[in-house]
Amino acid sequence: MDIQKIRDCFPTLRTDEPPAYLDNACVTLKPDSVIQTINDYYHHTPGCGGRGVHRYSTKVSRATNDARRKLQTFLNAESANEVVFTRNATHSLNQVAHGLSWQKGDVVLTTDREHNSNLVPWLQLEQEQGIEHRVVPSLEDNTFDMEGFEQACKDAGSRLKLVSMSQVGNLDGVKIPIRDIAKVAHDHGAYVCVDGAQSTPHMRVDVQDLGIDFLAFSIHKMCGPSGMGGLWGRYELLDELRTIQSGGQTVTASTYDSLQWANPPARFEGGLGNFSGMMATGTAIEFLSQFNMDEVRAHEIKLNEIMSNGIKDLPGVKIIGPHDAKLRSGICSVVLKELPAHDIAMLLDEAAGVMVRSGQHCVHSWFNARGHKDGSLRASAYMYNTEDEARLFAETLSEAVHAFSAA
Ligand SMILES: Cc1ncc(COP(=O)(O)O)c(C=O)c1O
Repeated sequence: MDIQKIRDCFPTLRTDEPPAYLDNACVTLKPDSVIQTINDYYHHTPGCGGRGVHRYSTKVSRATNDARRKLQTFLNAESANEVVFTRNATHSLNQVAHGLSWQKGDVVLTTDREHNSNLVPWLQLEQEQGIEHRVVPSLEDNTFDMEGFEQACKDAGSRLKLVSMSQVGNLDGVKIPIRDIAKVAHDHGAYVCVDGAQSTPHMRVDVQDLGIDFLAFSIHKMCGPSGMGGLWGRYELLDELRTIQSGGQTVTASTYDSLQWANPPARFEGGLGNFSGMMATGTAIEFLSQFNMDEVRAHEIKLNEIMSNGIKDLPGVKIIGPHDAKLRSGICSVVLKELPAHDIAMLLDEAAGVMVRSGQHCVHSWFNARGHKDGSLRASAYMYNTEDEARLFAETLSEAVHAFSAA
């Protein structure tokens, strides 16, 4: 990959003093082409897709259908009708959680390292509908405990309804073996929902090869616009799912006392859509599709090795997850013993333009169970980050830790 050529596509990286932007697990930067598509929509075709037949509508409908097909190809989905546009991964996970029909006592299994978006919907269902959310503890180094998972499936028995897990954790970058997990879950008669918020932007995700049932993802973490996410689901399952947003677009006909549901994906896209967002999603996926995702992942791991090696021996600094950076994707997340994570994050930006995230990263459950109230300081790389930026992060963090420790 030609990193400089990639960087040239991003306006924020073409400035005189570009930041070392290492908060990609939260949201990524946007290339010119994505920004241009958003502009073009408002400048030239600011109409409503899917409904009207005038020129604006026709152009928007064509572009949004095209975006769906690009996502279909990117994820290797069987049909574009399996791809639903949502606001974000949270919306997608909620559509699954509140779209399936539950019996009291049904069991949902997650890991112990889930983002709130793949925890809170299950806790809500536990409170409101009497399902049971169970956690599969990770091994000591945060990697996946396959034996523990198999036992948890056995323990749940016929009550096991859904296994919902993030493929790559935003806490630590640890990737879990989704294909094997899906096989075990299906052997126990359960559905498999994957939170792909941290995997689809960074690696090859082939929904058919993984053998899963649902995939939630965040377009805004894939060089796409904010306010956009996606849900992929096997068509026959989507066809049985209850929509959590009914109204315009979700029916083919209605009378005063009856309705005819539209087929997926329209059934789940109630109300006027974020058309510029959908069109720019197509542009973002086109941008990503020019890269070999295996190379993207390898590049991010190389950067993580530089970051991790540069900070691993610092006093009071502990990397979350396994020592080997290869097992933590592009995420280097550290707990700072007795050092203020927010203050250090601010200092990194002010002193060296290094932008990282501090706090609990919406994985409150993991931090609270371990008494780490301040959370962690997290650097997360993407394809446009350079080895120099990774070194700058390590050097600046080292200086900050020494300065704070001496104070
Ligand atoms: C693993 C994981 N799941 C879910 C989400 C929520 O994504 P969104 O903001 O698109 O709802 C995030 C966001 O950081 C995440 O990292």
